[in-house]
Amino acid sequence: MQPDLLRGPGAARRPAPLRGRADPGSAWEAARADLDGLPGGAGLNIAHEAVDRHAADPARAGRVAVRWLDRSDTVHDLTYRDLAGRTARFAHLLARLGVGPGERVFTLLGRVPALHVTVLGALKARCVVSPLFSAFGPAPVRERMRLGGAAVLVTTPQLYRRTIAPIRAGLPDLRHVLLTGGDGSGGGEPGTLDLDALLDAEEPTFTIGPTDPQDPALLHFTSGTTGTPKGALHVHEAVVAHLATARAALDLRPDDLFWCTADPGWVTGTSYGIVAPLVVGATLLSDQGEFDALRWYRTLEREGVTVWYTAPTAIRMLMRRGEDGVPALPRLRLVASVGEPLDPDAVRWTARVLGRAAHDTWWQTETGAIMIAHRPGDDVVPGSMGRPLPGVQAGLLARGPDGRAAVGAHGGVHVLHGVAEGELALRTGWPSMFRAYLGAPERYAACFADGWYLTGDIARRDLQGHYRFVARADDVIKSAGHLIGPFEVESVLTAHPAVVEAGVIGTPDPVAGELVKAFVTLRAGTEPTEELRAELLAHARRALGVVAPKEIVFADALPHTRSGKVMRRLLRARELGLPDGDLSTLETAR
Ligand code: WT7
Repeated sequence: MQPDLLRGPGAARRPAPLRGRADPGSAWEAARADLDGLPGGAGLNIAHEAVDRHAADPARAGRVAVRWLDRSDTVHDLTYRDLAGRTARFAHLLARLGVGPGERVFTLLGRVPALHVTVLGALKARCVVSPLFSAFGPAPVRERMRLGGAAVLVTTPQLYRRTIAPIRAGLPDLRHVLLTGGDGSGGGEPGTLDLDALLDAEEPTFTIGPTDPQDPALLHFTSGTTGTPKGALHVHEAVVAHLATARAALDLRPDDLFWCTADPGWVTGTSYGIVAPLVVGATLLSDQGEFDALRWYRTLEREGVTVWYTAPTAIRMLMRRGEDGVPALPRLRLVASVGEPLDPDAVRWTARVLGRAAHDTWWQTETGAIMIAHRPGDDVVPGSMGRPLPGVQAGLLARGPDGRAAVGAHGGVHVLHGVAEGELALRTGWPSMFRAYLGAPERYAACFADGWYLTGDIARRDLQGHYRFVARADDVIKSAGHLIGPFEVESVLTAHPAVVEAGVIGTPDPVAGELVKAFVTLRAGTEPTEELRAELLAHARRALGVVAPKEIVFADALPHTRSGKVMRRLLRARELGLPDGDLSTLETAR
């Protein structure tokens, strides 16, 4: 494996067991037994399980793997055979460009077939794939591509001009930029290659090289409270959990038409937007268009979507629009949701208006796959996320004064029993557990204690063993289901010459859950004018894209912790109208 992503200075401190062999006969083993493995015992590769094994079976090769709706609503179908050919071409192209196993291939793409081809083709080549959010501005993209040591980027001419050209000089490791599906107007950008033309010249068959199940496959960036974004690294073995959870939580079967509305730049867009439905052998629907209620209803109806995986923000947007013109959806078997709290109202609305109560599912970038869910046959308990899936052992840990799980001097934790509230934790060893934060072994090690992975979420458990989300134990913001690190936003604001200090929080919003709000103090002598506010908003928007603050407040001073850090919790408590210092009620107030 070159370069070696998993070994590093902190390797010895990595918690066991990393090889995650669950009990034989467990839920994971059943899924593992249904996977092929590479021919000749050459290991386990996600792309083989998702594409090639179906394409190799004459009975399945002609089935539709990807049904793509372009912006004008035209349907384009790719069969498993087509997908095997295109991904083979992409794998050959990487080799021709001198890009080897272990190197990082990034995408900055919307929902287009080039995304599926790049992700699966790069996995065939045993590269590590990192999909980025195309609505990010140049600053978060540069940060992630630098941290991930991107060797290749696949994007469109428009996104290249807007987001990459301004930062290209700061990305010395980036050897190849491949452009696809332009608007036909701009022609080639200097220093880029035409992906579509290059693919045509490659062979449509490719033999995947030996792949250890523990070889890195996917790199997903996620945000913490402080410091740089964290690159959660997942291995090929994760496909075991993708298959098991696709069945257990989403009830996916080969004859399903599955629609996952997540953006490809977040983990849901890969785990369930690409891998899970293909591993099952189902058809995935990929819709290039942005949210539009009527269009979504039309798509559900016309395409006959059977399983729909979406998010609370999208459901709330549908609710807002009202019930006129909602078609009957007799083929829709399951509606599921992820990413943020699913309010009981939204559950009841989906039951009444769509004919199916939305099933909540809980997981994280780090877990790689759904861990807690209302399972298909379960009665939905509105307001609850459901129960741990088979093979998943969840627990609640007693918390210390900092709000996180209390870890004793000898590394022990206190597991709460019965009805309880604490930090949600998962017993290590499930197949899609992240294996590292790239280049940050100490941050990785800090996520584990006593054989548990600590999620950073506070949850409550009822008598029936259902988990309810209470709050995040840290300061990260969830806006429209997207996790936003306040530090990343603050850094962009303080880079402006007028700003001395910034504190960024999430403020409640009825549709998006939270909106990003910034409090800033200004350099002495700088007037807090409306012009300056507009300039700061524009500055943040240019650098950050869609994750920029929606609101900026000028403050005379910001509250600080004893160690001198901006105390975001207090900003949030004030925002919510809680009396100063009364932080204890903050969690329940959210
Ligand atoms: C955080 C993880 C992998 C899914 C997409 C988000 C929050 C996730 C729920 C839910 C309430 C939820 C948690 C979690 N979250 N699902 N069903 N109810 N909150 O992945 O960006 O890594 O965010 O999203 O706070 O820790 P992510």
